[in-house]
Amino acid sequence: MPTPILGTAYWGWKIPAPTAFDLLDALYAAGFREIDTATNYPINKIPEDFRKAEMILSDWINAHGIRDLKITAKVGSINNLRSPEHLLTQSFLLMCLDAYHQMWGANLDTFMVHWDNRDARSEIRDTMEALAYAGEKGWRPGLSGILRPDIYADLNKDFGLDFRIQFKHNILESKYEHYKPFHGAKRFVAYGINAGGAKIGADPRLDFLKPILEKANERKDRPPIEHFFQVGILFAYLHPDMESILIGPSSVEQLEKNLAFFRRLEAFDYTDFFEPQRR
Ligand SMILES: NC(=O)c1ccc[n+]([C@@H]2O[C@H](COP(=O)([O-])OP(=O)(O)OC[C@H]3O[C@@H](n4cnc5c(N)ncnc54)[C@H](OP(=O)(O)O)[C@@H]3O)[C@@H](O)[C@H]2O)c1
Repeated sequence: MPTPILGTAYWGWKIPAPTAFDLLDALYAAGFREIDTATNYPINKIPEDFRKAEMILSDWINAHGIRDLKITAKVGSINNLRSPEHLLTQSFLLMCLDAYHQMWGANLDTFMVHWDNRDARSEIRDTMEALAYAGEKGWRPGLSGILRPDIYADLNKDFGLDFRIQFKHNILESKYEHYKPFHGAKRFVAYGINAGGAKIGADPRLDFLKPILEKANERKDRPPIEHFFQVGILFAYLHPDMESILIGPSSVEQLEKNLAFFRRLEAFDYTDFFEPQRR
């Protein structure tokens, strides 16, 4: 079943460091271990904040001597200005891999290209050499924000890498089709499940959900689904190719509600909810 991954995109920006530490404490105490970060978090266009989210994460790891996290490190950015400037050469990526291994040791799990707008096969092959090296050493290679997944898939005939793929997926919008060459395996990781923090009742785009929820909630053999964060998790959870789901709580209270809902999904059957709209 898809597992939750705690996101860090707002750490050091909308989420201050003490709250990020509280989120990590609560996640860890609840038995969950997966974290997602990127070199350019927070992408707030403040140069001094470049790499701030990963620094907060490192401080927490070092303070507690943690060795069993599963961190996804998304790499390739050279600033946090939301610019298209990226560096995905084999040499730069191997340098990043070494740096993250030094920094996080056994906590590093997935090494992921984060945005690739190129369509030159030779350049993409160079990137894949670095991902293949990471794979050989036991880390999982990953892709996110890829303009040409078809080229990656074609080149992968030579590499045979088992990619994890982060993609936007919510009930209003999904990039699943864009990654068609990789369909059919549990390798996908959803982000944007809350469609930017949309709330039922406050966002007219979600009005179509009301009759769906009313009908599904007629069943009395399970707790009802009432909130959009639950819809977001459930919609991703029911996707057959979903391996994990990114959660971006802005408080410990939200985190605990998210984790409680994951537990609820293990205990109750909600598979009837989104059957017609799953794809
Ligand atoms: N690979 C990529 O390109 C990419 C892109 C985006 C994100 N990500 C990753 O995904 C992580 C999550 O980001 P996202 O964009 O996917 O976030 P999201 O889940 O779409 O939205 C997060 C927002 O949802 C609301 N929310 C979450 N739990 C809630 C709850 N229990 N009750 C009420 N509201 C709740 C909060 O809004 P309020 O604060 O307004 O209440 C929160 O700020 C990021 O931190 C990052 O690690 C990756």
